[in-house]
Amino acid sequence: MNLEIIPTGAALAAEVRGLDLSQPVDDATFAVIEQAYDEYGVLFFRDQRITPEQHVAFTRRFGEIELNIFGERWSVPGCPEIVVVSNITEDGKPIGVRRAGENWHSDMCYTARPPRGTILYAIETPELHGLPLGDTEFASAAAAWDALPESMRRHIDGRHAVFDFTGRKRSFQPTREEIERNPPVRHPIVRTHPKTGRKCLYVMRDDCTGIEGIAAEDAEVLICALADHIVKPQFIYRHHWRPGDLLMWDNCTVQHRAIQDYNLPLRRKMYRTTMGGAVPV
Ligand code: OGA
Ligand code: MN
Repeated sequence: MNLEIIPTGAALAAEVRGLDLSQPVDDATFAVIEQAYDEYGVLFFRDQRITPEQHVAFTRRFGEIELNIFGERWSVPGCPEIVVVSNITEDGKPIGVRRAGENWHSDMCYTARPPRGTILYAIETPELHGLPLGDTEFASAAAAWDALPESMRRHIDGRHAVFDFTGRKRSFQPTREEIERNPPVRHPIVRTHPKTGRKCLYVMRDDCTGIEGIAAEDAEVLICALADHIVKPQFIYRHHWRPGDLLMWDNCTVQHRAIQDYNLPLRRKMYRTTMGGAVPV
């Protein structure tokens, strides 16, 4: 095995080379991958050719698979674990969720047990005369915490925010039942990564509607300031996709957003799986 973990040099993210994910991953190799994933927050594997079943099997190595509101609308036929993220329409109907997150976010933070992580596998990616479009940006909420001044750390550590499913504008209208299934929840705004023990900021502009113990206007100022801090250039890695990329991120240490700079006839088609998670602490 000549597995290599190559850090991107940014505040997060590493490339893994020397692994063919269409083959079963043995326990020793998986342990190396999992440790790198916890450490770097984003891992990617280039030039993969995997079936939906192999994608699901790899995701299962990280625990339970989470089914979500995208999957109820746009999953791969016969494979409810895989959501299609795409701008393609067939017979006048979208084959996937068109926009999975243009504003900075951490997946499903509005749930009581947000997913551990998310895996995207690129089937088709847009490019213009060789220039890749449809990048995804990732920000390290752990590096952002590390860089905070001590007095801000003292001000926010131990506090909780309210996360509201209805706060964010989505590319589809959630049903009444979905809204009722996702009542507002409270999470710590400074989370501790369950594996590394690193502290991470957990604040998003669209989802956080208030901070307990802080007056509404002051909380709004604080949420905006922290959300902006997390996405400063020094905390960011920007991924230029190629077909065959499989990329995974950690929803505790990382926020992300999709860059919407392409349109049909430029096509983008990604397969997405979500790992089950735990109550943030
Ligand atoms: C997601 C997501 C970003 C992208 O699938 O959760 O945010 O670039 N995707 O498609
Ligand atoms: Mn997302």
